[in-house]
Amino acid sequence: VSERNAVHTGAEVLVASNRGPVSYALEEGGTLTAKRGGGGLVSGLSAIGPDTDAVWVCAALGDGDREAVRRSGGKLDPSDTGGQRVRMLDIPPDVHHDAYNGIANSVLWFVHHMLYQTPLEPVFGAEFRAQWTSYEAYNRAFAQALADEAAEGAAVLVQDYHLTLVPGLLRALRPDVRIAHFSHTPWAPPEYFRMLPDDIAEQLLRGMLGADQLGFLTHRWADAFGACCAAVTGGTGGTRLGVHGLGADAEFLQERAHRADVAERKAALHQEIGTGPDGTARRTIVRVDRTELSKNIVRGLLAYRQLLVDRPTWRERVVHLAFAYPSRQDLAVYREYTAEVGRLAEEINAEFGTAGWRPVVLHVKDDFARSLAAYRLADVALVNPIRDGMNLVAKEIPVVSDRGCALVLSREAGAHEELGADALTVNPFDVSGTAQALHEALSMDTTERDRRTERLTAAATALPPAQWFLRQLRALTG
Ligand code: G6P
Repeated sequence: VSERNAVHTGAEVLVASNRGPVSYALEEGGTLTAKRGGGGLVSGLSAIGPDTDAVWVCAALGDGDREAVRRSGGKLDPSDTGGQRVRMLDIPPDVHHDAYNGIANSVLWFVHHMLYQTPLEPVFGAEFRAQWTSYEAYNRAFAQALADEAAEGAAVLVQDYHLTLVPGLLRALRPDVRIAHFSHTPWAPPEYFRMLPDDIAEQLLRGMLGADQLGFLTHRWADAFGACCAAVTGGTGGTRLGVHGLGADAEFLQERAHRADVAERKAALHQEIGTGPDGTARRTIVRVDRTELSKNIVRGLLAYRQLLVDRPTWRERVVHLAFAYPSRQDLAVYREYTAEVGRLAEEINAEFGTAGWRPVVLHVKDDFARSLAAYRLADVALVNPIRDGMNLVAKEIPVVSDRGCALVLSREAGAHEELGADALTVNPFDVSGTAQALHEALSMDTTERDRRTERLTAAATALPPAQWFLRQLRALTG
């Protein structure tokens, strides 16, 4: 017994991320309803099988989550999580707010996506320093929970820019565990990254370098990280860098996209799209995004407007299905951006629309079944981010589209590294160039489109979530 107690008991595999696989809504009358999330990490982790004791550590994100933590003592009821063991941390709301909205989403996200309008931003003063203290506390809470839950020599997979400091902090608490960190975002080149105060830049990099292994979505982001280390810490030390390009889950998507709820939404969208002057179905340009500054939705709409101006033959014959789901609405710039997207869509409809034709069909209510219905109907997929870690939508649409589709893809999306050869590549700032690419995509003959769709699908599904996850785990555990 004493020997057993000398070593740590607990989980052999742990995952840590800000957003967990489940969230709770607190209904009137005090009932809690659990909603399970999707995404690559959820399906990836399920690949290691239901009988493992893997633990997922995440933060409580709202009142419902906090109440669930209070009622469960932080170890959520597995019947809410599909059997997954989840430890949810109730970090004080103001600390979480400063760490998540302040540092993670207003600083680190902006740095890695290069979103600052530099004449005015960023300003790293007293407010930033106060928020940084919260970011440290938030990262410490994760490191401590992981240290408490991990078995001797466990594998810990830490996710994303919210938890940059965790590897270093956890290493200090538990030198025995093996630590990986994965970045789902781009990584900024050193000349941009070093806008951060020197001590913070160094702390972030040293935090990450506390890991045995760092994962990135593309070589470009891994190289940028390496360059930042060369400039700030003098190198990456003994930490290994790996590239694991998360792919689409074809099997899941195909099955899900052919259920009744999707068929129902597809029929409704057909109505909204309508038929062109010659009686045939209109072409569709489809985009599906969180309303996120980096997604470049506004320039996408401007490019569509320019297409209608430059190529009037497309009027009445094409519809832009733009699904833009509000995100990070605690931040004023996101609220303003969301409003701008709505305004511009209305403007285009007012300018070009006719009695039987609505040029832009904008949907803002997040509805996965309707997104899949739009994927199925896509003739053209528009994915034009300013900068994006990967962009899974670019990988999903070709897989799901009924007739195959042409992909207009920003060269600044991580997905471009794998899909660029068969996409129509655009510079995300070049609105005229994007309008021209939309025209070419709409005009592509079916043989060419089929050929490209086949290759896009193969590239997009090369590393589905389960393999993506297992590859990282194997690289860590040897
Ligand atoms: C990106 C990040 C994820 C994040 C997601 C949604 O993909 O890499 O970590 O969960 O955006 O953002 P949110 O702030 O809503 O969690």
